[in-house]
Amino acid sequence: MLGPPGAGKGTQARLLAQRLGIPQISTGDILREAVRKGTPAGLEARGYMQRGLLVPDELVVRIVNERMAEPDAAKGFILDGFPRTYAQARALEESLAAKGQRLSMVIALDVDEETVVKRISGRLVCRQCGAMFHALYDPPRNDNLCDKCNGSLYQRDDDKEETVRRRLQQYREETRPLMDFYANKALLVRIDGTGAVEEVKERILKALETLDGQNDPA
Ligand code: AP5
Repeated sequence: MLGPPGAGKGTQARLLAQRLGIPQISTGDILREAVRKGTPAGLEARGYMQRGLLVPDELVVRIVNERMAEPDAAKGFILDGFPRTYAQARALEESLAAKGQRLSMVIALDVDEETVVKRISGRLVCRQCGAMFHALYDPPRNDNLCDKCNGSLYQRDDDKEETVRRRLQQYREETRPLMDFYANKALLVRIDGTGAVEEVKERILKALETLDGQNDPA
C-alpha cells in the first residue's frame, strides 16, 4: 500500500488482511512497537520517527525481511508503508525473488493533503490492539476507550502539525517517485482514497478481482 501519511493505508490494510486471511506487515507499527520496547532497532529508529524523517533503509529492510519470513506470511501478506524509497523497493524485489515470490499489486491511495491533515489530526489508536479511530469520522463509543478491546486510546507522537508537514515532504521527495517505478512494471493501481472507509475498501476489492486466477500472491 502506497500513499501519503494519513491516506488510510493502515485502515485499509487491516480490513484487507482480515478479508484475505493474510497478515498486514506495517513497518510503522513494527517500528513503534520496537520503540515502545526499547529494542536496539527501536532505539535507532526513535529519533528519526519523532522528527518525521524516514528511518534508514538498512534497518527497515532487515525488519521487513524478518517479518516476511514468519510462518503466517508464507501464503502472502499486505505490505503497509513499505517500500518507501528506491533502495527499499529494490531490496524487496531481491528478497521476494530469492523466495520465488513476487508482488501481485501495488495499491496507491490518492488523497489530497488537506484531507490527510484532517485525518491525522483526529486519529486515535488503541494501545492494546492497535485498532484505529477518528475523533470526528469514526469516534469510539466511549471516550478514549477502544470499542474492540476496551484498551486506552492515544494520539501518536509524530502526529503534531510540524512533524506531519515533514512526513508529507518526505513522502513527496522519497516515496511518491515509486509510483512511476511500479507503473513501469504494470503493478500500480491508483485508488481514490477519499470518501468513507467502506467505499474505499470496495474500490480496493474491485481492483483485486482482476487478480483472480493468478497464483502465488505476495
Ligand atoms: P507510518 O506509521 O507508516 O505512518 P505514515 O505512512 O505516515 O502513515 P500513517 O500511519 O500516518 O497513515 P495511514 O495512511 O496508515 O492512515 P490511517 O489508516 O492511520 O510511519 C511512521 C514513521 O515510521 C515514518 O514517519 C518513518 O519515520 C517510519 N517508517 C515507517 N515505515 C518506514 C519505511 N518503510 N522506511 C523508513 N521509515 C519508515 O488513517 C489515518 C486516520 O484517518 C485514522 O484516524 C483513520 O481512522 C482515519 N481514516 C482512514 N480512512 C478514512 C476515510 N476513508 N475516511 C475518514 N477517515 C479515515
